[in-house]
Amino acid sequence: MSDKPTILVQLDTDPLPSVFDRVVAVDAGVGHIFSYGGITPQNVMPLVHGCIFTRGGKDLARTAIFVGGSDVAAGEAVLAEVKKHLIPQYGLSVSLMLDSNGSNTTAAAAVRAAGRHTDLSAAKSLVLGGTGPVGQRVARLLAKAGGHVRLGSRQRDKAEAACAAIRAHVPGAKIEAVGVASSTDAPDALDGRTLVVAAGAAGAVLLPRKYRAHLTGLRVLIDLNGVPPAGIEGVELNDKGTERNGIVRYGALGVGGTKMKVHKLALAKLFESNSAALDIEEVYNLALQLP
Ligand SMILES: NC(=O)c1ccc[n+]([C@@H]2O[C@H](COP(=O)([O-])OP(=O)(O)OC[C@H]3O[C@@H](n4cnc5c(N)ncnc54)[C@H](OP(=O)(O)O)[C@@H]3O)[C@@H](O)[C@H]2O)c1
Repeated sequence: MSDKPTILVQLDTDPLPSVFDRVVAVDAGVGHIFSYGGITPQNVMPLVHGCIFTRGGKDLARTAIFVGGSDVAAGEAVLAEVKKHLIPQYGLSVSLMLDSNGSNTTAAAAVRAAGRHTDLSAAKSLVLGGTGPVGQRVARLLAKAGGHVRLGSRQRDKAEAACAAIRAHVPGAKIEAVGVASSTDAPDALDGRTLVVAAGAAGAVLLPRKYRAHLTGLRVLIDLNGVPPAGIEGVELNDKGTERNGIVRYGALGVGGTKMKVHKLALAKLFESNSAALDIEEVYNLALQLP
C-alpha cells in the first residue's frame, strides 16, 4: 500500500468548482483537493495527463478524478473524454467518479430509500422534475430495477428526450414521458402510481396534496427539494420512512443523510485502486451496501 497522500482532482463543468463537493471531500478524509472550473472536453487532456504521468505504479491509486458541475450531460461528456486519455494498458490510470449536481449520490440514496418499502421491480413510479440531473438518474435507476416509470416535465418534449436517453442505457426500459404543465395533467400522471419521487427545482411545489386525495395505491412519497415550500405537500423535510395515512414519506434531509454516506463511501472507493469508474449504477451498488 502506498503511503502517498490522497489527491482528488475535481473537474467541474461550471466556472466555479462546487464548494459542496470540496467540503464533502475534506470530510471524507481526502488529503488534497485540486479544483478546476470551466472544464470541457476540449481542455481536459493536460489535466488527465497531470494525473497519470506523475505518480507511478502503486501510487496511482492515491490520485483520483471527480467530475462535477450543474450540467449532467456536460459532466458525462467530460468523463468520456477523460477516459480517452487514460492508458490502462500501461497501468497509467486513475479512478473516476461522476456526480454532477449530486445527481448520482442523491438518486442512489432516494432509490435505496424507496426500495426499503416497495418492490422496485413491480413499482409503478412517477418522477416529477424528471428532466433535471437528479430526476433523470432516479428514473434511470427505477427503470433498471424493472418497474414502470413515468417521467414528468412541464414540457412533454423534454420528458421524451430524457426518456430516450434512459432507454439508451436501459434497453427494454418500461418508461413513458408525461407532461405535467397544469392541474388537468395531474390525474393522468398519478393514475395507478405506487411511488412518487419529486426531484424538482429548489422551492418549486410539484405535487399539491389535493391532487392525490383520490389515490388508493400510493405507498411511498419522496421529496428531494430541501428549500421551502415542499415539493410534495405533506412531506416534511425530516421525514425518513415516516408513515402517515398509510403512505411512507421521505423528505430532503431524510434522504440527504444517506446521500452524504454514499458520497463519502464512493470517495473512499476511488482510492482502493486506480481503476474504479463510478457512475450511477456503481454508486447505487454502494448505496445498497449501506445498512
Ligand atoms: N436531498 C438531497 O440530498 C439533495 C441533493 C441534491 C439535490 N437535491 C435537490 O433535488 C432537487 C433536484 O435537483 P436538480 O439539480 O436535478 O434540480 P433542477 O435541475 O434545478 O430542477 C429539476 C427540474 O425541475 C423542473 N423545474 C424547474 N423550475 C420549476 C418550477 N418553477 N416549477 C416546477 N418545476 C420546475 C425542471 O423540469 P421541467 O422544466 O422539465 O419541468 C427541472 O429540470 C432539487 O430540489 C435539489 O435542491 C437534494
